[in-house]
Amino acid sequence: METIRLLVDKSGDNEGIYSQAVDLLNNGEVVAFPTETVYGLGAVATDDRAVKKIFEAKGRPSDNPLIVHIGSIEDVLNFIEEIPQNAFKLMDSFWPGALTLIMKVKPGVFAPSVTAGLSTVGIRMPDHEVALNLLRKLQKPIAAPSANRSGKPSPTKAIHVEEDLRGKIPLILDGGTTGIGLESTVLDITVNPPVILRPGGITQEMLQEVIGEVILPNKEQQQLETTPKAPGMKYTHYAPEAPVYLIESDQQIVENAIIQLKSDGKQVALLAPSNFHSLGADYFFTFGNEGDQERMGAKLYDDLRACDKTKANIILVTTTSTEGVGAAIMNRLEKASGGKWYK
Ligand code: TXA
Ligand code: MG
Repeated sequence: METIRLLVDKSGDNEGIYSQAVDLLNNGEVVAFPTETVYGLGAVATDDRAVKKIFEAKGRPSDNPLIVHIGSIEDVLNFIEEIPQNAFKLMDSFWPGALTLIMKVKPGVFAPSVTAGLSTVGIRMPDHEVALNLLRKLQKPIAAPSANRSGKPSPTKAIHVEEDLRGKIPLILDGGTTGIGLESTVLDITVNPPVILRPGGITQEMLQEVIGEVILPNKEQQQLETTPKAPGMKYTHYAPEAPVYLIESDQQIVENAIIQLKSDGKQVALLAPSNFHSLGADYFFTFGNEGDQERMGAKLYDDLRACDKTKANIILVTTTSTEGVGAAIMNRLEKASGGKWYK
C-alpha cells in the first residue's frame, strides 16, 4: 500500500485533504492525524474491521484497548452509561485537552476491539485544530492509539509516523510537531478517589484542584497490581533499539560514566540538558534548559528516535524530578529503560 503524507497548512484551504481523510475513514480505512499530545492512528470507532486494521498496522496486542476521540463534549452522553459528577467538572476544565477519562461504556456503542472486552472505555476530546476539524467533518467518534509501531516511542512528528507505518496505512495528515509530546493523562473515574493510570500533561496537582483527592500510584504500587488497570502499561514501551540507562542529572556523574563506557569500547549517546554539552559522548542530544520539563516532555520521543539513527550501543538519559509533568516524563523513561539505572 502506498502511504501519502499531506501537509495540512494553517493558512491554506484544506477542504480537499479533509474530505479525502473522511472518505477513507468512512470506507473502513485508517488515517494518521496530529493531536496536541502525539499523532494518533484513527479508525471509525463503530467499525470493527477498520479498528482491527489499527492493531494490525501497529503490531499491537489485541488485549490493549484504544482511546476514543470525540469532537464535542455532548458526544459523551451518547456513549457513556454513567457519567460521574466529577467527570462533568473535569470535562469543563480540561476538554478539549490531554485528559482521557475512563468511564462505563454503553454496551454495543463501539466496535468490540476498541474496548478489548472491558466494560469501560477511555474517551477524550483532543485540543488540536486538525483533529477537531477531522472529527467534526466525519461526525463520528474516532478510535485512535498513538501512531507508532507497538513498543516504539510515540510519534510527535508526521515523519515519525511515516518511518514506522510506511506501506501499512494510506494517509498521514501532517500538522507539524505536536505540542505536549507525551500521551494524555489517563484517569479512571469509575473508582473513588479517581486513579491516574497513566500520568501525562494534565498533572495530579491540576486534577486535584478541580475534584479533590486523586491517586497517582507509585512504581511499587503499580507493580503490586496483578492485573494492570491500563492494560497498555504492562508492555515494553517508548524504547529505542539500543538499551537506555537512566542516570542522575549531575555533570560529574555523567562524565565519569561516559569515561567508563568508552573504555569498555561502547559508543555512547547522551540525552541531557543543554548545559551538559557532550561530556565526551559520541552523540549528544539535548532536551533544552535544565529543569524545563515542558520542553523535555515535548522533545523526549524525538530525541529517543534520533538516538536510534546513530551507531550508539548505549543511551544515557538524565532524569528529572517527578513534580508536575515530571511524573509523566519519568514514567516514560522508566518504561524506555526497563527501569535500568547506570550506576
Ligand atoms: O494522547 C493520547 O492519549 C494519544 C493520542 C493519539 O490521543 N493516544 C494514546 O493511545 O496514547 P494509546 O493507545 O497509545 O494509549 C492508551 C492507553 C493505554 O495504556 C491503554 O491501556 C489505556 O489507555 N486504556 C484505554 N482504554 C482503557 C480502559 N477502558 N481502561 C483502562 N485503560 C485503558
Ligand atoms: Mg501508545
